[in-house]
Amino acid sequence: VSKPSFIPLPPREFQTDKQLIERARGFFEEMTRRRTVRDFSERAVPRAVIESSLQTAGSAPNGANLQPWHFVAISDPALKREIQVAAEAEEKEFYERRAPNEWLEALAPLGTDAQKVFLETAPWLIAIFSQPYRVLPDGRRLKHYYAIESVGIATGFLVAAIHRAGLVSLTHTPSPMGFLNKLLHRPAHEKPFLLLVVGHPAEDAMVPNIQRKPLADISSFICS
Ligand SMILES: Cc1cc2nc3c(=O)[nH]c(=O)nc-3n(C[C@H](O)[C@H](O)[C@H](O)COP(=O)(O)O)c2cc1C
Repeated sequence: VSKPSFIPLPPREFQTDKQLIERARGFFEEMTRRRTVRDFSERAVPRAVIESSLQTAGSAPNGANLQPWHFVAISDPALKREIQVAAEAEEKEFYERRAPNEWLEALAPLGTDAQKVFLETAPWLIAIFSQPYRVLPDGRRLKHYYAIESVGIATGFLVAAIHRAGLVSLTHTPSPMGFLNKLLHRPAHEKPFLLLVVGHPAEDAMVPNIQRKPLADISSFICS
């Protein structure tokens, strides 16, 4: 068993209560302007933006620091097109046969369908994989604790980083996503988590007029 080793917490500035309240409010106001976008512009995005955003994702808290994730960032047009073809085939099955009515009803306000044009127009696709375990050089499997929870949090960091950079994203989950392992040459034990579509919004992009639950509905406080 290896020994723990400690370093000082990275420096932080003292914040008054007023500053804390303002900073929390400011972050909320910035994050609440994030929307899932489904109409992308073809404008290119520098690779450095994607790299920094992935580093943000990779800094997320995770089970036992095993960092059970892999991100494949794709800007190659031919590969994006292959992903589009495969995703649309799955989505066609989903919308026409596999999806229970209840699910289709939940999706109705979003106006989504089996057409996934954004997979071709958006400059970047980021396929996110979770790793339930890793294979050690001697062939043994090292279990990753809380892999799904960790990848979910890392994905949240990634979505926030992309928004902070000034871009938009779409968390896309063609169902099922096994084709991503094949097209991206990822090992069979890695589970596709979701496909993040990243870029600039189309000039005339519209978003569904949906509401967020108020604070009182999503939280309860137990205070002294
Ligand atoms: C796990 C997950 C899967 C999603 N899958 C899809 C998807 O396959 N297609 C899609 O158009 N939107 C998808 N979304 C986006 C949601 O529909 C969207 O986040 C939700 O309607 C709230 O809208 P907002 O992100 O603009 O606040 C997904 C979101 C999450 C978190």
